Amino acid sequence: MPYGTERAEATLTDEVAIVTGASSGIGAATARELARRGATVVLAARRVGLLDAQVESIKRAGGQATAIPADMADASDVTMIAERTLASFGRVDVLVNNAGVFWSRPLASSPPDQITSLAQVNLLGAMLLTRAVLPSMMQCRHGAIITVGSLSGRVAMEPLYSATKYGLRGFSLALRRQLAGTGVSVSLVSPGNINTDMTRHVAARMPEPSLVATAIADLVRHPRREVIVPSRHYAIAWLEQMLPTLADLVHRQRGWSPVREEETATWMSLLQAAMACLAAT
Ligand SMILES: NC(=O)c1ccc[n+]([C@@H]2O[C@H](COP(=O)([O-])OP(=O)(O)OC[C@H]3O[C@@H](n4cnc5c(N)ncnc54)[C@H](OP(=O)(O)O)[C@@H]3O)[C@@H](O)[C@H]2O)c1
Repeated sequence: MPYGTERAEATLTDEVAIVTGASSGIGAATARELARRGATVVLAARRVGLLDAQVESIKRAGGQATAIPADMADASDVTMIAERTLASFGRVDVLVNNAGVFWSRPLASSPPDQITSLAQVNLLGAMLLTRAVLPSMMQCRHGAIITVGSLSGRVAMEPLYSATKYGLRGFSLALRRQLAGTGVSVSLVSPGNINTDMTRHVAARMPEPSLVATAIADLVRHPRREVIVPSRHYAIAWLEQMLPTLADLVHRQRGWSPVREEETATWMSLLQAAMACLAAT
């Protein structure tokens, strides 16, 4: 039986997709989902053993996949991913910019070389790989670029990590406008906490990576400016944009960041007064 036909028809047959950060978590789940829908998938990451295991599991299930070990912090590795894919398959139809690392140390104690590395992996790598595959996509007038941002690119949380994700968001939204009419779509997925190695430290129950993988695979055929998953997080993204001072209060109450007390105390009393007025009417 062809890969995954028991769940859905393969809608991505003949598409060649690159997924970065495909050795674990969201990237591995995305590679499996794209292959399940019929795409030939190129999996890129550093941990060769895990990459090979993902490729084998896709092949065992009847899908097509190949691994390219690469470090997204190294610009020549990034170019090599595009070159090897083009040499093997003649084109790239889908690029999923997913590789990323989390960073939560305070800025003052973050070593400069690690700040540079974070920006290279999370932001620059995605920009350079997108640049490397674009000429082929534009020549074919066909392609989908899907970038994995984060809720931290909508709501300011950890300064360094958020900076990379806000950057990715700006990159994706502006590139979408730049490429309008070229046949190349640009979409952004902004997940909240998802159950992967990256969130080992989080105690709460979280959605599995397959939720994000399905959203990403859907964006190939149905591109969107931005999708937040799970959708309940649209509320906090809206609050951050429309009422940032109130969002400060939520941050403080949930212990996400130590927003100044006197500021939030003022908002708390305003909020309590407003609620008392509402209750009285
Ligand atoms: N989990 C969440 O709650 C969450 C929420 C919002 C956004 N995200 C984003 O989702 C993406 C995937 O994260 P995840 O949750 O699936 O975590 P994960 O399981 O830790 O996956 C991270 C992936 O990125 C790869 N990677 C890290 N550094 C790399 C480098 N220098 N070169 C190449 N690949 C590198 C890792 O592969 P190697 O180590 O093998 O290189 C791994 O495959 C990230 O961009 C993350 O920011 C995650």
